[in-house]
Amino acid sequence: MSRIAYVAGQYLPHRLAAVHIEDRGYQFADGVYEVIAVVDGHLVDKERHLTRLRRSLAELRIARPMPDSALTIVIREVVRRNGVDTGIVYLQVTRGAAPREHAFPKAGKPTLVVTSRRTRPPDPKLGQEGIAVITIPDIRWQRCDIKSVALVANVLGKQQAKEAGAYEAWQVDRDGRITEGTSTNAWIVTADNTVVTRAADTAILNGVTRAAVFEILDRAGYRLVERPFTVAEAKAAREAFLTSTTADLLPVVRIDGAPVGEGRPGRLSQELRAAYFAHAAAAP
Ligand code: PDD
Repeated sequence: MSRIAYVAGQYLPHRLAAVHIEDRGYQFADGVYEVIAVVDGHLVDKERHLTRLRRSLAELRIARPMPDSALTIVIREVVRRNGVDTGIVYLQVTRGAAPREHAFPKAGKPTLVVTSRRTRPPDPKLGQEGIAVITIPDIRWQRCDIKSVALVANVLGKQQAKEAGAYEAWQVDRDGRITEGTSTNAWIVTADNTVVTRAADTAILNGVTRAAVFEILDRAGYRLVERPFTVAEAKAAREAFLTSTTADLLPVVRIDGAPVGEGRPGRLSQELRAAYFAHAAAAP
């Protein structure tokens, strides 16, 4: 089946789908995106993703390409045309095409691209054995709360992790505190079983998976504290894990080569991982 993309008003085969060379997404990374999981044909946490998209657009003063009701129809149609049962939807909105000049163009309309593809379920070994992370300086801009397509620092960080044989790089701010991964949120569990993750300030993306895990913790009666934590605290934590739409929830068992806890996925991480899968599977 050839893949179909929605590009600026049309459903097109990928090889014909294109945006203008003067699209501001291409020239300035002047745009935002979302990645939504598809599980058994259902969109996981769609409302949260669309709410965050609206926020990102508003922060950058980019017009909404269409109302959420119409956008939902486009998303579902792209999923259907690509025969995606389990996979992802990628959605990108830029300020549109205009002659290159930094300030906003007077006229012009946003470019919307929606694609979807099947993905293999993540390797179960990652969940069973846990993953390694490295720590790197956070060299990104000061508005990481906006889900901007300007991801070159994240790209460099993820590549560094890969070359070090790790799954992810946890970025560290100037005060030695972890902000987040290059495409995931970072969490630890302290000796007294308190779950800790950085508050959703402008230094991190307010993850949709993060919000779902908050609900799970609340329902199960676990203690959650939103505060920054240092690299040293993470290394000494009882458990650590990361979350994202594409990684789900993965136990972190090594940080910069040193074991976290007993160097095995912790009990709470495993429990939360199972609860998150149940949440995703229950998507309407
Ligand atoms: N990344 N932090 C960053 C920097 C991210 O890019 C992401 C998501 C997250 C987790 O957010 P969520 O739980 O809403 O997926 C945190 C997506 C998956 C990506 O860029 O592919």
